[in-house]
Amino acid sequence: MTGEHSPVQVAVDSAAMGSASASSPGGVPGRSAALPGGIEVTGLSKTYRRVVGREISLTAALADVSFTVAPQEFVSVIGPSGCGKSTIMKILAGLLDPSSGSVKVSGKPVEGPGPDRGCVFQFPGLMPWKTVVDNVVIALEFAGVPKRERRRRAEEYVDLVGLDEFKRHHPGELSGGMQQRVGIARALAIEPVVLLMDEPFGALDALSRTRMQDELLRIWEQTKKTVLFITHSIEEAVVLSDRVLVMGNGVITADVPIDLPRPRSRHRLLSDPRTLELMRDLERLIGHSDDHEPEA
Ligand SMILES: Nc1ncnc2c1ncn2[C@@H]1O[C@H](COP(=O)(O)OP(=O)(O)O)[C@@H](O)[C@H]1O
Ligand SMILES: [Mg+2]
Repeated sequence: MTGEHSPVQVAVDSAAMGSASASSPGGVPGRSAALPGGIEVTGLSKTYRRVVGREISLTAALADVSFTVAPQEFVSVIGPSGCGKSTIMKILAGLLDPSSGSVKVSGKPVEGPGPDRGCVFQFPGLMPWKTVVDNVVIALEFAGVPKRERRRRAEEYVDLVGLDEFKRHHPGELSGGMQQRVGIARALAIEPVVLLMDEPFGALDALSRTRMQDELLRIWEQTKKTVLFITHSIEEAVVLSDRVLVMGNGVITADVPIDLPRPRSRHRLLSDPRTLELMRDLERLIGHSDDHEPEA
């Protein structure tokens, strides 16, 4: 069994995917994942079906994924392209139905998108004809926030992400990093208990990316949301997270606590030998999941 993971598999290789499944207890003692802001993913699987000509093509994207995130915990998911990270996110966001298993947020089953979950994706998809503040206002309108409250709240969150001087600017006048800040302000403004972030800094240049990591640390310390964060970057995962879930080929292969002190600053962490040790551990674990080697 090579375990090669092609983008579209015609036959479902369930034996390869199911066996390495690791159920992660996770969480923070005393903070149940069933409380407001907690996430519980149990036995989640997803097989995509596509009709190609006269054949049905099946892709097993997730096989028996289980993990919990405690209220206010910051958990990253890391793993190679195509291993199923975005599929977990879309199911949690309520944009996609699982094939089996359950996802709960705040102890309640996810049945569709809702204002309890704010989503930030790689590209913020702003409306170019609207100002920064109006891009946030429109999201509040969709979320059903009363009209009289929308502008005040939008301005508050645009300030929080450090764009106070750019409120009346249009997206085309902003850098990629600034546009992504608007995306974060928009997700936070609906005041969700959970923030779902799928490679939010993946399209940024290296400098903007590290700046945004510091910004996110600051915002998270201030707002204390539960965050589920997807990234390709080991350094980013270590700097930001309380815990890192390693994924490979549709399953979670490791659950690594990041025992670094908070409040954190990226600069300080990168001169801490413990940070480097954790990065090396993760690199090794991801290497294993990339090779699809069964864990000893
Ligand atoms: N809508 C879809 N239809 C068919 N296959 C899909 C679809 N979305 C994703 N996939 C496949 O499912 C697997 C996991 O995808 P995804 O969750 O996007 O991975 P990741 O975010 O880790 O890169 C990949 O093999 C991908 O090609
Ligand atoms: Mg993805």
